[in-house]
Amino acid sequence: MRWGTWGANLDDKGFADMITGCLELGIDTFDNADIYGGHTTETGFGGGWRSARVDRSEIKIITKCGIKMNSDLFPYKTKQYDTSYEYIDSSINRSLRELQTDYIDQVLIHRPSPLMDMEDLAHTFKELEGSGKVRSFGVSNFTPYQIDILAELYPLATNQIEISVINHKPFTDDSLVLSAANGLEIQAWSPLGGGKLWHDKTQEGSLRNSRLQDVADLYGWSLDEMAYYFLFHHHTEIRPVTGTSKIERIKTAIKCEGNQITDQQWFEIYEAARGHEVD
Ligand SMILES: NC(=O)c1ccc[n+]([C@@H]2O[C@H](COP(=O)([O-])OP(=O)(O)OC[C@H]3O[C@@H](n4cnc5c(N)ncnc54)[C@H](OP(=O)(O)O)[C@@H]3O)[C@@H](O)[C@H]2O)c1
Repeated sequence: MRWGTWGANLDDKGFADMITGCLELGIDTFDNADIYGGHTTETGFGGGWRSARVDRSEIKIITKCGIKMNSDLFPYKTKQYDTSYEYIDSSINRSLRELQTDYIDQVLIHRPSPLMDMEDLAHTFKELEGSGKVRSFGVSNFTPYQIDILAELYPLATNQIEISVINHKPFTDDSLVLSAANGLEIQAWSPLGGGKLWHDKTQEGSLRNSRLQDVADLYGWSLDEMAYYFLFHHHTEIRPVTGTSKIERIKTAIKCEGNQITDQQWFEIYEAARGHEVD
């Protein structure tokens, strides 16, 4: 999301360098969505991995669909969700073209629609999986109960939700429990709060950040190290979807995966994030 025009605005070479840099670090999975960059970032990624001259089998591509968002390329009148078979299929066909690939490793439904029919959606997944265009399906931003219901109808691979020291609700709202119980990989978007750990102009946000900084200072961690430790400590093996456009910062995430913190340290971070101790 942040490599294209909504962020670092990388060109073909920039995308290629990031992809190669990630692969050198052992990171092979790349998160996309049809709407990123106003429907332009998949195109950038497609040009990027081709310029990097990597073999398709070396990378795993995730993309998302289901949001009809107005852009120069798609002038929708009203932002809306569409989880119909026809729409998902046409969106995937476009993603295949833009990403310059003949299959997508994982497609996620970007947001749950208030109008979606779970049985229809499960049927859509089965049909499209059979077509060979998509290797696996998952969801994003679904409520814990929506996940539980859909997982009964189709073997979902992934649940991608916002989890971080900034948004720690999934630790207590059953998202992690129900995803893990249904065998889903948990992917954490905005693992660093989308940069809010550093730039949060609200009074509440800056107070939280200074409490978090105190904990980080106590243990000699940087803020991003602390944020990654907070996620990696959970037994469900949360996979952070890092949004940085800097290879050095990806190295930080990797380093943290191999290190352990104690439960006591986790609760110190949690208390600083919440602003008060647990009940
Ligand atoms: N499923 C969904 O609904 C959904 C929603 C949002 C995002 N996503 C996906 O999740 C990915 C990650 O989310 P995110 O991009 O918000 O992730 P993030 O990793 O929480 O935030 C990335 C932002 O933080 C900045 N940053 C990182 N380290 C920093 C540091 N040490 N000091 C200052 N700034 C720092 C980055 O800037 P630099 O580039 O300069 O490092 C970048 O702007 C997205 O890129 C997208 O693919 C999915």
